Amino acid sequence: MRAFYDDLGEAEWTRLESSPRGRVAYEVHRQFLERFVKPGDHVLEVGAGPGRFTFDLARLGAAIDVTDFSPVQLDLHRQLVGDSPTEAAVLSRELLDVCDTSRYGDDTFDVVLAFGGPLSYAFEQTDDALAGLMRITKPGGYVVASVMSLLGSWRYFLQAATEDMKVVGEDANDLVFETGDLRHSQTVHVCQMFRAREISDLVAQCGGEMAAMSASNWASLNEASVLEELEADPDRWARFLKHEIEACAEPGALDGGTHLLFASRKL
Ligand SMILES: C[S@@+](CC[C@H](N)C(=O)[O-])C[C@H]1O[C@@H](n2cnc3c(N)ncnc32)[C@H](O)[C@@H]1O
Repeated sequence: MRAFYDDLGEAEWTRLESSPRGRVAYEVHRQFLERFVKPGDHVLEVGAGPGRFTFDLARLGAAIDVTDFSPVQLDLHRQLVGDSPTEAAVLSRELLDVCDTSRYGDDTFDVVLAFGGPLSYAFEQTDDALAGLMRITKPGGYVVASVMSLLGSWRYFLQAATEDMKVVGEDANDLVFETGDLRHSQTVHVCQMFRAREISDLVAQCGGEMAAMSASNWASLNEASVLEELEADPDRWARFLKHEIEACAEPGALDGGTHLLFASRKL
């Protein structure tokens, strides 16, 4: 996946701003994050990419160790954040694989943030990776992350999934549905997708307490023209976002978006 994100380059920066669905996803993530970060917090950002959430962490008053396993994404981060006032909140910038956090001591960070799926690329090492993130979080602190959702992605990408099935066959498709592992498919974006209940089990297994979960997105996966109409009116857009963010956190909606957000509290 390193090559995938190296090649993706600047396109990663526009992911959460180029479509109404992306802009809603950004708001869902941003408002979720602000519940767990307070001024003065020491935050490790894993898979920071070009830095969209680094700007938000800095606005929330955090001091940030920025990491990513893609040198290209880390360079983009240096370019986009380096010349901005946000740079004052960046303590360091390093290459890091989410699967190996051994360089950090126990109980180091108030918050460890892994938005946009680093944990969806850990495959067999997912449990160890999350346990590692929990280990380096202070008691009472949070691991805040988002991963790809199996059922919501199936819903949103039904056409592509059906095309893929014609190539790989029904048995491989059954395996994707059972395991969430896209290595059984032909997609270029190979990742591990999860059900909400699997994330709950994973957090409990790693000694965490689930503080909050959310889908991204619920009502805003399709209908771009309707979203654009709502967005054109600031009052209607603000009301829509409020409803959407509330809906995304309903137990019945958790599996409905392309991503699953969670906050695991270290006991
Ligand atoms: C979809 S981007 C998300 C960027 C940013 N966190 C956001 O949410 O906008 C995923 C990022 O995770 C990084 N990544 C993927 N696998 C990783 C791994 N095993 N360890 C650390 N970072 C990883 C990629 O290089 C990429 O920058």
